[in-house]
Amino acid sequence: MQRFKNKTALVTGGTNGMGLATAEKFIEEGGTVIITGRTDETVKSALAKLGENAFGIVSNAGNMKDLMNVQQEVRKYTDHIDVIFANAGYGKFAPVEYVDENQFDELFNVLVKGPFFTVQQILPLMKRGGSVIFNTSVATDIAMPNFSVYSAAKSATQSFIKTFAVELTERGIRVNGVSPGHIKTNIFNNTGLTAGQIEGAVRDIIPTIPFKRQGEPAEIANVVLFLASEEASYIHGAEIKVDAGISVIR
Ligand SMILES: NC(=O)c1ccc[n+]([C@@H]2O[C@H](COP(=O)([O-])OP(=O)(O)OC[C@H]3O[C@@H](n4cnc5c(N)ncnc54)[C@H](OP(=O)(O)O)[C@@H]3O)[C@@H](O)[C@H]2O)c1
Repeated sequence: MQRFKNKTALVTGGTNGMGLATAEKFIEEGGTVIITGRTDETVKSALAKLGENAFGIVSNAGNMKDLMNVQQEVRKYTDHIDVIFANAGYGKFAPVEYVDENQFDELFNVLVKGPFFTVQQILPLMKRGGSVIFNTSVATDIAMPNFSVYSAAKSATQSFIKTFAVELTERGIRVNGVSPGHIKTNIFNNTGLTAGQIEGAVRDIIPTIPFKRQGEPAEIANVVLFLASEEASYIHGAEIKVDAGISVIR
Protein backbone atom coordinates (compact mmCIF):
# COMPACT_ATOMS: atom_id res chain seq x y z
CA MET A 1 0.00 0.00 0.00
CA GLN A 2 1.11 3.57 -0.69
CA ARG A 3 -1.36 5.41 1.55
CA PHE A 4 1.05 8.26 2.30
CA LYS A 5 2.39 9.16 -1.15
CA ASN A 6 3.00 12.94 -1.25
CA LYS A 7 2.29 13.17 2.49
CA THR A 8 4.69 14.40 5.15
CA ALA A 9 4.59 13.26 8.76
CA LEU A 10 6.30 14.75 11.79
CA VAL A 11 7.17 12.03 14.31
CA THR A 12 8.51 13.38 17.59
CA GLY A 13 10.82 10.90 19.29
CA GLY A 14 11.42 9.13 16.00
CA THR A 15 14.91 7.85 16.75
CA ASN A 16 13.87 4.67 18.52
CA GLY A 17 10.99 2.47 19.64
CA MET A 18 7.46 3.23 18.47
CA GLY A 19 8.44 6.51 16.81
CA LEU A 20 11.13 4.89 14.68
CA ALA A 21 8.83 1.97 13.75
CA THR A 22 6.14 4.48 12.75
CA ALA A 23 8.59 6.53 10.68
CA GLU A 24 9.72 3.33 8.90
CA LYS A 25 6.14 2.42 8.02
CA PHE A 26 5.23 5.90 6.75
CA ILE A 27 8.22 5.74 4.43
CA GLU A 28 7.37 2.19 3.29
CA GLU A 29 3.97 3.55 2.32
CA GLY A 30 5.35 6.36 0.19
CA GLY A 31 5.53 9.16 2.77
CA THR A 32 8.23 11.57 3.81
CA VAL A 33 9.03 11.81 7.51
CA ILE A 34 10.64 14.37 9.77
CA ILE A 35 11.78 12.88 13.05
CA THR A 36 12.93 14.54 16.24
CA GLY A 37 15.23 13.31 18.99
CA ARG A 38 17.40 14.84 21.69
CA THR A 39 20.87 14.34 20.27
CA ASP A 40 22.66 14.69 16.98
CA GLU A 41 23.97 11.15 17.42
CA THR A 42 20.56 9.47 17.86
CA VAL A 43 18.97 11.51 15.08
CA LYS A 44 21.81 10.75 12.63
CA SER A 45 21.75 7.06 13.47
CA ALA A 46 17.97 6.88 12.87
CA LEU A 47 18.27 8.79 9.59
CA ALA A 48 20.87 6.27 8.41
CA LYS A 49 18.27 3.53 8.96
CA LEU A 50 15.37 5.47 7.43
CA GLY A 51 17.04 6.53 4.17
CA GLU A 52 16.51 9.44 1.85
CA ASN A 53 12.83 10.12 2.58
CA ALA A 54 13.58 11.08 6.17
CA PHE A 55 14.83 14.31 7.70
CA GLY A 56 15.82 14.94 11.29
CA ILE A 57 15.72 17.69 13.84
CA VAL A 58 17.55 17.74 17.16
CA SER A 59 14.86 19.06 19.45
CA ASN A 60 14.10 18.38 23.11
CA ALA A 61 10.35 18.02 23.65
CA GLY A 62 10.86 18.97 27.29
CA ASN A 63 12.49 22.31 26.47
CA MET A 64 10.35 25.38 25.68
CA LYS A 65 13.02 27.05 23.55
CA ASP A 66 13.27 23.97 21.32
CA LEU A 67 9.47 23.68 21.16
CA MET A 68 9.16 27.31 20.06
CA ASN A 69 11.75 26.65 17.31
CA VAL A 70 10.20 23.47 15.98
CA GLN A 71 8.15 25.13 13.22
CA GLN A 72 11.19 27.02 11.96
CA GLU A 73 13.21 23.79 11.94
CA VAL A 74 10.46 21.88 10.11
CA ARG A 75 10.23 24.68 7.51
CA LYS A 76 13.82 23.89 6.47
CA TYR A 77 12.40 20.71 4.88
CA THR A 78 8.75 21.40 4.07
CA ASP A 79 6.03 24.04 4.22
CA HIS A 80 3.29 21.55 5.08
CA ILE A 81 2.72 18.71 7.52
CA ASP A 82 -0.08 16.18 6.99
CA VAL A 83 0.40 14.05 10.08
CA ILE A 84 1.82 14.66 13.55
CA PHE A 85 2.60 11.69 15.78
CA ALA A 86 3.26 13.36 19.17
CA ASN A 87 5.22 10.50 20.64
CA ALA A 88 8.46 11.74 22.25
CA GLY A 89 8.75 10.77 25.87
CA TYR A 90 9.95 8.52 28.62
CA GLY A 91 9.02 7.55 32.14
CA LYS A 92 10.57 7.98 35.56
CA PHE A 93 9.02 5.90 38.27
CA ALA A 94 9.13 6.30 42.05
CA PRO A 95 6.91 5.95 45.12
CA VAL A 96 4.96 9.09 46.02
CA GLU A 97 7.24 9.88 49.00
CA TYR A 98 10.35 9.88 46.79
CA VAL A 99 9.08 12.10 43.98
CA ASP A 100 10.69 15.54 44.06
CA GLU A 101 9.72 18.70 42.20
CA ASN A 102 12.42 18.20 39.55
CA GLN A 103 11.12 14.78 38.59
CA PHE A 104 7.54 16.04 38.59
CA ASP A 105 8.39 19.01 36.35
CA GLU A 106 10.63 16.93 34.09
CA LEU A 107 7.84 14.46 33.28
CA PHE A 108 5.20 17.15 32.83
CA ASN A 109 7.57 19.10 30.57
CA VAL A 110 8.29 16.23 28.21
CA LEU A 111 4.92 14.43 28.33
CA VAL A 112 2.47 17.35 28.57
CA LYS A 113 4.10 20.59 27.44
CA GLY A 114 5.96 18.67 24.72
CA PRO A 115 2.95 17.35 22.78
CA PHE A 116 0.87 20.48 23.50
CA PHE A 117 3.34 22.99 22.12
CA THR A 118 4.54 20.74 19.30
CA VAL A 119 1.01 20.54 17.92
CA GLN A 120 0.37 24.25 18.61
CA GLN A 121 3.51 25.26 16.70
CA ILE A 122 2.96 22.92 13.74
CA LEU A 123 -0.76 23.67 13.26
CA PRO A 124 -0.09 26.62 10.91
CA LEU A 125 1.51 24.10 8.52
CA MET A 126 -1.50 21.75 8.53
CA LYS A 127 -4.37 21.78 6.05
CA ARG A 128 -7.80 20.13 5.90
CA GLY A 129 -7.39 16.36 5.90
CA GLY A 130 -4.52 16.53 8.39
CA SER A 131 -4.26 14.18 11.31
CA VAL A 132 -2.83 14.48 14.82
CA ILE A 133 -2.13 11.39 16.91
CA PHE A 134 -1.10 11.56 20.56
CA ASN A 135 0.75 8.68 22.22
CA THR A 136 -0.81 8.09 25.65
CA SER A 137 -0.40 4.95 27.81
CA VAL A 138 -2.06 2.04 29.56
CA ALA A 139 -0.91 3.86 32.71
CA THR A 140 -4.02 6.06 32.36
CA ASP A 141 -6.23 2.93 32.79
CA ILE A 142 -4.41 0.86 35.39
CA ALA A 143 -3.08 2.13 38.72
CA MET A 144 0.49 0.86 38.98
CA PRO A 145 2.79 1.53 41.95
CA ASN A 146 5.44 4.21 41.25
CA PHE A 147 3.53 5.53 38.24
CA SER A 148 1.73 8.48 39.93
CA VAL A 149 3.42 11.30 38.02
CA TYR A 150 3.80 9.45 34.71
CA SER A 151 0.13 8.43 34.81
CA ALA A 152 -0.98 11.98 35.66
CA ALA A 153 1.08 13.40 32.80
CA LYS A 154 -0.24 10.84 30.30
CA SER A 155 -3.79 11.53 31.53
CA ALA A 156 -3.26 15.19 30.68
CA THR A 157 -2.08 14.19 27.19
CA GLN A 158 -5.09 11.90 26.88
CA SER A 159 -7.35 14.92 27.57
CA PHE A 160 -5.80 16.73 24.57
CA ILE A 161 -7.34 14.09 22.28
CA LYS A 162 -10.79 15.49 23.04
CA THR A 163 -9.99 19.16 23.61
CA PHE A 164 -7.85 19.48 20.47
CA ALA A 165 -10.47 17.50 18.51
CA VAL A 166 -13.22 19.98 19.39
CA GLU A 167 -11.08 22.95 18.36
CA LEU A 168 -9.77 21.42 15.15
CA THR A 169 -13.02 19.97 13.80
CA GLU A 170 -13.82 23.14 11.80
CA ARG A 171 -10.37 23.03 10.23
CA GLY A 172 -10.87 19.46 9.02
CA ILE A 173 -8.02 18.09 11.13
CA ARG A 174 -8.74 14.80 12.89
CA VAL A 175 -7.27 14.23 16.36
CA ASN A 176 -6.92 10.81 17.92
CA GLY A 177 -4.70 8.84 20.26
CA VAL A 178 -3.03 5.50 20.60
CA SER A 179 -2.68 3.97 24.06
CA PRO A 180 0.13 1.41 24.14
CA GLY A 181 0.35 -1.35 26.70
CA HIS A 182 3.76 -2.80 27.55
CA ILE A 183 5.88 -2.43 24.41
CA LYS A 184 9.41 -3.69 23.79
CA THR A 185 11.38 -0.42 23.46
CA ASN A 186 14.04 1.53 25.33
CA ILE A 187 11.40 3.08 27.65
CA PHE A 188 13.14 1.86 30.81
CA ASN A 189 16.56 3.18 29.73
CA ASN A 190 15.84 6.74 30.90
CA THR A 191 14.59 5.64 34.32
CA GLY A 192 17.91 5.30 36.12
CA LEU A 193 17.29 1.54 36.63
CA THR A 194 20.21 -0.84 36.02
CA ALA A 195 20.06 -3.42 33.21
CA GLY A 196 19.40 -6.13 35.81
CA GLN A 197 16.55 -4.15 37.37
CA ILE A 198 15.02 -3.55 33.93
CA GLU A 199 15.22 -7.27 33.15
CA GLY A 200 13.55 -8.05 36.49
CA ALA A 201 10.78 -5.47 35.90
CA VAL A 202 10.02 -6.90 32.44
CA ARG A 203 10.04 -10.45 33.85
CA ASP A 204 7.45 -9.37 36.44
CA ILE A 205 5.26 -7.59 33.90
CA ILE A 206 4.99 -10.38 31.31
CA PRO A 207 2.74 -12.75 33.33
CA THR A 208 0.28 -9.85 33.83
CA ILE A 209 -0.16 -9.35 30.07
CA PRO A 210 -3.05 -11.38 28.56
CA PHE A 211 -0.86 -12.38 25.55
CA LYS A 212 2.13 -13.14 27.87
CA ARG A 213 4.45 -11.04 25.75
CA GLN A 214 5.38 -7.39 25.28
CA GLY A 215 4.09 -5.69 22.17
CA GLU A 216 6.34 -4.89 19.23
CA PRO A 217 6.82 -1.22 18.24
CA ALA A 218 5.46 -2.16 14.78
CA GLU A 219 2.16 -3.17 16.38
CA ILE A 220 1.72 0.42 17.55
CA ALA A 221 2.97 1.85 14.25
CA ASN A 222 0.28 -0.10 12.34
CA VAL A 223 -2.43 1.63 14.38
CA VAL A 224 -0.85 5.07 14.05
CA LEU A 225 -0.78 4.64 10.25
CA PHE A 226 -4.39 3.47 10.26
CA LEU A 227 -5.48 6.53 12.32
CA ALA A 228 -3.52 8.81 9.99
CA SER A 229 -4.99 7.25 6.85
CA GLU A 230 -8.20 7.81 4.89
CA GLU A 231 -9.47 4.49 6.26
CA ALA A 232 -9.96 6.30 9.58
CA SER A 233 -11.81 9.23 7.95
CA TYR A 234 -14.73 9.02 10.43
CA ILE A 235 -12.60 8.55 13.57
CA HIS A 236 -12.12 11.74 15.59
CA GLY A 237 -11.51 12.32 19.31
CA ALA A 238 -10.89 8.60 19.85
CA GLU A 239 -8.18 6.68 21.65
CA ILE A 240 -7.34 3.17 20.47
CA LYS A 241 -5.90 0.86 23.11
CA VAL A 242 -3.12 -1.37 21.75
CA ASP A 243 -2.38 -3.28 24.91
CA ALA A 244 -3.28 -6.99 24.42
CA GLY A 245 -6.39 -6.33 26.51
CA ILE A 246 -4.48 -5.68 29.73
CA SER A 247 -6.62 -2.63 30.53
CA VAL A 248 -9.87 -4.65 30.47
CA ILE A 249 -8.99 -8.29 31.26
CA ARG A 250 -8.28 -9.44 34.82
N1 LIG B 1 7.24 1.24 25.90
C1 LIG B 1 6.11 1.21 26.55
O1 LIG B 1 5.75 0.19 27.16
C2 LIG B 1 5.19 2.41 26.53
C3 LIG B 1 3.87 2.23 26.92
C4 LIG B 1 2.98 3.30 26.84
C5 LIG B 1 3.41 4.52 26.35
N2 LIG B 1 4.71 4.68 25.99
C6 LIG B 1 5.10 6.00 25.43
O2 LIG B 1 5.54 5.81 24.11
C7 LIG B 1 6.36 6.90 23.71
C8 LIG B 1 7.57 6.38 22.97
O3 LIG B 1 8.39 5.65 23.85
P1 LIG B 1 9.07 4.25 23.49
O4 LIG B 1 8.49 3.24 24.40
O5 LIG B 1 9.05 4.04 22.01
O6 LIG B 1 10.53 4.53 24.07
P2 LIG B 1 11.98 4.65 23.42
O7 LIG B 1 12.34 3.44 22.64
O8 LIG B 1 12.86 5.05 24.54
O9 LIG B 1 11.82 5.87 22.41
C9 LIG B 1 11.57 7.16 22.89
C10 LIG B 1 11.78 8.15 21.78
O10 LIG B 1 11.47 9.45 22.29
C11 LIG B 1 12.61 10.28 22.13
N3 LIG B 1 12.65 11.20 23.24
C12 LIG B 1 12.66 10.92 24.57
N4 LIG B 1 12.66 12.05 25.27
C13 LIG B 1 12.65 13.06 24.37
C14 LIG B 1 12.65 14.47 24.46
N5 LIG B 1 12.67 15.09 25.65
N6 LIG B 1 12.65 15.20 23.32
C15 LIG B 1 12.65 14.59 22.11
N7 LIG B 1 12.65 13.26 21.96
C16 LIG B 1 12.65 12.52 23.07
C17 LIG B 1 13.81 9.35 22.05
O11 LIG B 1 14.79 9.96 21.27
P3 LIG B 1 16.24 10.44 21.79
O12 LIG B 1 16.76 9.39 22.73
O13 LIG B 1 16.98 10.56 20.51
O14 LIG B 1 15.98 11.73 22.45
C18 LIG B 1 13.21 8.17 21.28
O15 LIG B 1 13.20 8.45 19.91
C19 LIG B 1 6.64 7.68 24.98
O16 LIG B 1 5.81 8.83 25.02
C20 LIG B 1 6.27 6.70 26.09
O17 LIG B 1 5.90 7.36 27.27
C21 LIG B 1 5.60 3.66 26.07
